[in-house]
Amino acid sequence: MNAEMINKVNSGLRKIVGCCAAGAQFFLLLLLMIASASSFAQAIVTIPIETQKNVLILQTDKDARLGIVYFGKRLSNKLEYDAITKQFHLISDNMLTFNSAYTPAGTFNLLEPAVQITHADGNMSLDLKYVSSETKKLDENITVTSVLLRDPLYLDEITLFYKTYFKENVVEQWSVIKNSEKKPIRMQKYASANLYFLADEYYLTHYNGTWGNEMKPEEDHLTHGIKSIDTKLGTRANLMEPATFMVSFDKPATENEGKVLLGQLAWSGNFKIDFEVDVFKNLRLIAGINPYASEYTLAPAQEFTTPAFIYTFSDNGKGEASRNLHHWATKYRLLDGQGSRLTLLNNWEATYFDFDENKLTGLFKGAKKLGVDMFLLDDGWFGNKYPRNGDRSGLGDWQENAKKLPHGIGYLVKEANAAGVKFGIWVEPEMVNPKSELYEKHKDWVITQPDRPEKYYRNQLVLDLSNPAVQNFVFGVLDTLFTKNPTLAFVKWDCNSVIFNAHSAYLQKMGLPQSQLYVDYVKGLYKVLERLRAKYPTVPMMLCSGGGGRVDYAALQYFTEYWPSDNTDPVERIFIQWENSYFYPAIASCNHVTDWSNLPIKFRTDVAMMGKLGYDIVVDKLSEKDLQFSQQAVATYQSISDLVWHGDLYRLVNPNQNPMASLMFANLDKSRAVVFNYLTNTRFMPSASPKPIQLKGLDGAKQYTVKEINLYPGVKSSINNSNAYSGEFLMTVGINPDVNGRRASVLLEINEVKK
Ligand code: DGJ
Repeated sequence: MNAEMINKVNSGLRKIVGCCAAGAQFFLLLLLMIASASSFAQAIVTIPIETQKNVLILQTDKDARLGIVYFGKRLSNKLEYDAITKQFHLISDNMLTFNSAYTPAGTFNLLEPAVQITHADGNMSLDLKYVSSETKKLDENITVTSVLLRDPLYLDEITLFYKTYFKENVVEQWSVIKNSEKKPIRMQKYASANLYFLADEYYLTHYNGTWGNEMKPEEDHLTHGIKSIDTKLGTRANLMEPATFMVSFDKPATENEGKVLLGQLAWSGNFKIDFEVDVFKNLRLIAGINPYASEYTLAPAQEFTTPAFIYTFSDNGKGEASRNLHHWATKYRLLDGQGSRLTLLNNWEATYFDFDENKLTGLFKGAKKLGVDMFLLDDGWFGNKYPRNGDRSGLGDWQENAKKLPHGIGYLVKEANAAGVKFGIWVEPEMVNPKSELYEKHKDWVITQPDRPEKYYRNQLVLDLSNPAVQNFVFGVLDTLFTKNPTLAFVKWDCNSVIFNAHSAYLQKMGLPQSQLYVDYVKGLYKVLERLRAKYPTVPMMLCSGGGGRVDYAALQYFTEYWPSDNTDPVERIFIQWENSYFYPAIASCNHVTDWSNLPIKFRTDVAMMGKLGYDIVVDKLSEKDLQFSQQAVATYQSISDLVWHGDLYRLVNPNQNPMASLMFANLDKSRAVVFNYLTNTRFMPSASPKPIQLKGLDGAKQYTVKEINLYPGVKSSINNSNAYSGEFLMTVGINPDVNGRRASVLLEINEVKK
C-alpha cells in the first residue's frame, strides 16, 4: 500500500465515520482498516534535489512524513543517498518534527511550524503525509521538483517546489497551499521554505540599518533557541533589516574558504526568517512571509503560492557563493541582466526641489558635457493646487507643475534629446501627501485607521494597493508618462514611507479580513509591475526606496537596477556596496558621484564606477581640472564597464578587517580585469598596503600588463606600466597598488599580453 492508498483509506474512513457512525459493524470495519493502514510500513522515498555541486536530500519515513536528511556537497554516487540516514543517530520521539521538510502545527509537532492552519470547522491541527513527487526538466540547466503532501484527515494539500539552476548552484523554493475543504480555511503561517542543516556550529550574518546607513553586517554564533530576522514595516520593508543573510557552517566562512549558504526571501513586504538550533545541534530554518498580523483566508479550492526563498551554497567561501548568485541573477532574474546600462546625471542632490525649466535645460548641457547617456529628473516636478516644492505636499498629483515646467515633460524630453542626452524621470506612485488633490478626492484609497489620528512617515501615507482601483491608478501614472512621452528612457521608482495604521477601506468594503492587507499590498504591487512590463518590457527602471529600503529578487525581475543608499559619501559607500555585492551583481548597483563628501572627485568617481556610474552634481560648478578628469572618467568607465557589468567579482581585501578595500572584476575568458583599491581608514599608519594583493580569476599561464587608469590630470602613476607579469605571479605573489594618503584610490587595468 503506498502513501496515496493510505490517504485514500483514511479519507474513506472519515466519510464512513461521518455518515454511519451509529452502526457497530462499521466501527469494527473501521478498526480493522486503521490497523491495516497504520501497521503497514511505508516504502521509503528518497528525493535528491541536485545542482552541479550540492544536493538537498528529502526522504520519507515509515509514516510517509517528509524530512530532510542531508544538505551539502553532492555525492557522485547517487546510490549512496539512501544510506545517509543510517549514519545519523538522531533518536527522538519527535525526530521528524526536527528535520521536517515542511513542519505542520497542531498535531505531533511542538516546534516552530512552517505552516499553521485553522480548518473550516475551527480545528487547528495539521498533519502532512507524502503523496507523490515529480521532477521536470525545463531545459538543460533548470529542473523543478514538486512534492505533494496531504493532510490525511482534512485533505488539504501542500506542494513543495524546488527549482534548481544546475550550473549556478542556486535553488528557488516555494510552496503552494490548497484548500480542499468545502468552506474557507484560515492560514496563520505559510512559510516558503523549511530547511534543516547538520553541522557542528552555525554563524549567521545578517544586516541591520536605517536611512543612509543600510546593510550593516553582524555575525552571530547561533546557540540553542530561535534567532529571527524580520520586518513589519510593510512597504519600505528593508529599512531596518533586509531578508538577506548568510549562514556559515562549522566555522565562520571567509571570502575563499568555508561552507556558507547565502539566502534571501524574494518578497517586497513583511518577512520572517527563523534560525533554530535544536537539541541535536542541527539548524532548522523557516523562511516566509511574516505571520505577524497576516492571517490569510483561502476559499474552497483556492491556492496560495508563497514567495520564493532563494539560496546558494558553497564550500569554497563567500566569494564563490556570491558569484553563484550573480550568475543566476544576471541570467535569470534581474531585468536585462546581461545587457548594458545608461550612465546618467541626476538632479536630486544638485537642486533638490528648487528648479525650473531653465535650470533643467542648463543641466542637460552639463550631462552632455560630461559625456553621460541620460539626464534623470528627480522629485518636485508635479502638483499644482499643492505644488511639490518640498516633501510636505503634492505627492499623488502627477501633473507637471505649471510654474516650474510651463511646457511640460514633453518639452523637457525634447530639449534633452536635442542636447544629445536621453531623459528619465522620478516617480513615487504608491504614496500620497495628505496635502494633495488625490488625498482630497480618494481618501478611501489611503491606508490608515478610520478612527485614529493619521501617522505620517516623511509627511506621507501609503496608497492601498490591495484595491484594484489603486492598482489602475498606479499603472496609469506610468502609462500616461510613457504614452505622452514615447522616448522617455528611464524611470526611478521611489517608495519612501512605511505602513503605519494598517487598515484598508477596500478590504473592509469587500468583506475581506484586514489581516490580508500586508500580503495583498505586495501582490497588488506585483500585479501593477507585471502589467507595466507586459506593455513596456525594456525601459530601464531603478528600484529606490528612500535609499535602499526595498531591494529583493522578487522586485528585481521588473527592475534593471537599484539604489543602495542615499548616503553617497564614498567611504560609506565602499562598505554599503561591499555588503550588497554578496547578494546583487554590480550591474544592478546605481552609484552616483555627489558632493556629499569633501573627498577628491577621483575617489568619489572610482567608488561610483564599481557598478552603474551616475552623477548628482552641477557640472558647471566643477573646476576645469575636475571637469577634465570627469570627462575622461566617463570615457574610461565605458571602456571597463563590460568587466564591471559582466565579469566575475573577487573581493580581495576586506575593509572591515583592513585599512583598505580591494575588489576586482575579471572577464570570463581571463584576458582582462580591473582592480579597484581604496584607502578606507585615514588614521596614521606607516602604509595602507605594505604587502602585495593577490589577484584572482586570471590564467596562471598567461602574461598580463598592469596599468593604472583613471588618473587625475597631471598625476603620474607610481605603478610601473611597462612590466608584464604571469597570471601565476599576480595570483601568488600579487601586486601592490601603492595605496596611501596621497593615492587614496587606485584603479588598475590588467590586460593579457597577446602573442
Ligand atoms: C529618496 C531617494 O532615495 C532620493 O534619491 C530622492 O529621489 C528622494 N527620495 C526624492 O524625494
